[in-house]
Order: sequence, then structure tokens, then C-alpha cells
Amino acid sequence: MSAPEPGRRVVVTGGAGFLGSHLCERLVERGDAVVCMDNFLTGDPGNVAHLIGRPGFRIVECDLTEFVHIPEPVDLVLHFASAASPLDYLKLPVETLKVGGVGTLHALGLAREKDARFVLASTSEVYGDPLRHPQREDYWGNVNPVGPRSVYDEAKRYAEALTTAYRNSRGLDTGIVRIFNTYGPRMRPHDGRAIPTFIRQALAGEPLTVTGDGSQTRSICYVDDTVAGVLALADGAEPGPVNIGNPEEMTMLGLAETIRTLTGSDSEIVFIDRPADDPGVRRPDTTLAAQRLGWHPRVPSERGLRRTIDWFAALLEGPAVPAGRPRRRVSAPAAG
Ligand SMILES: NC(=O)c1ccc[n+]([C@@H]2O[C@H](COP(=O)([O-])OP(=O)(O)OC[C@H]3O[C@@H](n4cnc5c(N)ncnc54)[C@H](O)[C@@H]3O)[C@@H](O)[C@H]2O)c1
Repeated sequence: MSAPEPGRRVVVTGGAGFLGSHLCERLVERGDAVVCMDNFLTGDPGNVAHLIGRPGFRIVECDLTEFVHIPEPVDLVLHFASAASPLDYLKLPVETLKVGGVGTLHALGLAREKDARFVLASTSEVYGDPLRHPQREDYWGNVNPVGPRSVYDEAKRYAEALTTAYRNSRGLDTGIVRIFNTYGPRMRPHDGRAIPTFIRQALAGEPLTVTGDGSQTRSICYVDDTVAGVLALADGAEPGPVNIGNPEEMTMLGLAETIRTLTGSDSEIVFIDRPADDPGVRRPDTTLAAQRLGWHPRVPSERGLRRTIDWFAALLEGPAVPAGRPRRRVSAPAAG
């Protein structure tokens, strides 16, 4: 893909969260003006503090489910606001449904008012506990509408429907990206997702808590790759949905063992109850992303996990880490 013209004006909703902050950073680096909109429900202004003062960057504290307006012109709206970790959305069920529904309507309204392209951060969770493997974009999924995870899964499915309706009946330029499990610096150590949990436990010498028998699989994508995939979709005209994720699939037990090895930890692995409706398998078919966006993940899991471990070690060891950079290397040296 050719690089976009620099100097575009971009709104990132949820811009102070894990993925949103990496997007803001990448956009600022390439010369775009960025408005980061967030209510800091699960995000942290500290995630983008290093961008304050950079040309064109500003933070607007607002709740997307309330009235949303900014005075300046906008070329692109990246709608990333939503709790995303199961621990968060199970604690915030109504807020999650509201930001996926009302918040998405408001973000679409903002894009329409500004005649901007709109990109929805959807999720592999729209596939639910999938009956087809790997998951291709034309699979409709297997979601329990009244299960505990439905507050997130159904909110995103509804957000996809809203986005499609605005495209078809209002002529809005839209794109939908279905993001698979992404990891990297700036995840919260206690957000309940597997990678921060295992890293935190391994670094503290505590047992690594694997759910079920650990045979369930996930495919994990390093944040830089996900950001590149999202921007490849945002910079073009592709409507999607397009899967963005790394097809490198592993069992949860395998992931725990890898993190234990990379941290040089001798923590034991223990097994705890598996959450209700936890998907058994997860792997993206990324053919469409390759064909339409020329996108491929580039960071192998071992390299991405080492970077993430080093970042967490610095975070857990002392005061705030500046601009997401690790201060020292702790991951065990590569074998061979
Ligand atoms: N991280 C992943 O692996 C992953 C995978 C699939 C999809 N996604 C999607 O990407 C987006 C970001 O995920 P994340 O992992 O960075 O989560 P996150 O919790 O770190 O970030 C979400 C951000 O949205 C903000 N937010 C929530 N409700 C809001 C509201 N009503 N108004 C304004 N801001 C609000 C939060 O404060 C937070 O900063 C989400 O939409 C999520 O569904 C993430």
C-alpha cells in the first residue's frame, strides 16, 4: 500500500487505552493531527502523556455515550472506545453495551457530520465459540446472546450492524476491522487477560493460573502488527470486515510455559476453572487482509513476548515507565 498523505486529522475514540494509545502514537509520528477522545474508564491519560505537546495532538475527556462534538474538521474517525478485557466488561456490562451501541451511534454521527471515513474496532469475539476453524470473515459466529460475555460480543455485533447500516443507507465511508487477541506494552498487569496475568505471575514467582486444562487455543498478535493492519484498512477504502491477527496459534498451557521460559521463572503452573462460554479455539484466516490490504503480521510471538516481558518488568519494578519503553532487559536470552 502506498503511504497516505501526511497531515490528516484523525479522531481516536478510546485513545487513552492500550490499542488506542499505540494508534495515537503511530499517527502522531507520521504527521497526522490527532484528537484522543476518552473517558478513562479502562484507559489512562498516562498512556498518551508523552504525546502532549506534540504538534496537532490533544486529549478530549468525554463519554462517547453522551453528546460528542469537536469544532475542527476531521478526515478519519477510529472508533476504539470500549472495555475489552473480560474482567472489565463483566464488571461494566451496561457501560460496555452502551458504548458499543449509543457510543458507536455518536461516533458514526461525528464521522457523518465531518464527512470523514469511519473505522470500527470490532473483534474476533463476534465469532463467539466458533464452530469453524480458522475463522474467516464470512463465518457468522456462535454467540450466546444471554451468556455473560454477550455484553461485549453482542455490543460489537450490533456495532458492526450499525456501521453497515450507515454505509448502506447514509452513504458513509466505513471500514470494519475484526481484531484478534493483541498484546504488548501498556496492557494493565491486572486487566485479567492471559498474557499480562502470566507475565505478572511469572515475574513475581507466583503460580501461573491456566484456566481449564489449558488445551483451548488463542492466536496472539503483537501490538505493532495490529496497529499496522488497522491503519492499512483505515488508509484505504476497504469496507471489511477484515480480520487482523496473527495466525500463529497456541494452547493456553503452551503460552504459559513459553512465558515461564522467557522470564526464566520457576513458577509452577496450576489449573483453575474456565469461565463460562470461553471460546475453545481462535485463529484468524488472514487471506483477505493479505489480498486487500497487503498486510501480514511480522513480529514472531517470542520476540513480541520478550518486549512485553521487559516492559512489564520495568513497570512492576518501579515508578511509571516513560513512553512505553522498557528500562532494562529481563527476558531470558534466546536459546541457541
Ligand atoms: N486488545 C485486544 O486484543 C482487542 C481485540 C479485539 C478488539 N479490540 C478492540 O479494540 C478497542 C480497544 O481495546 P483495548 O484492548 O485497547 O482496551 P482498553 O480498555 O485498554 O481501551 C479502551 C478505551 O476506551 C475507553 N472508553 C471506554 N468506554 C468509553 C466511553 N463511553 N467513552 C469514551 N471512552 C471510553 C477506555 O477508557 C479505554 O481508554 C476496543 O474497542 C476493543 O473491543 C481489542
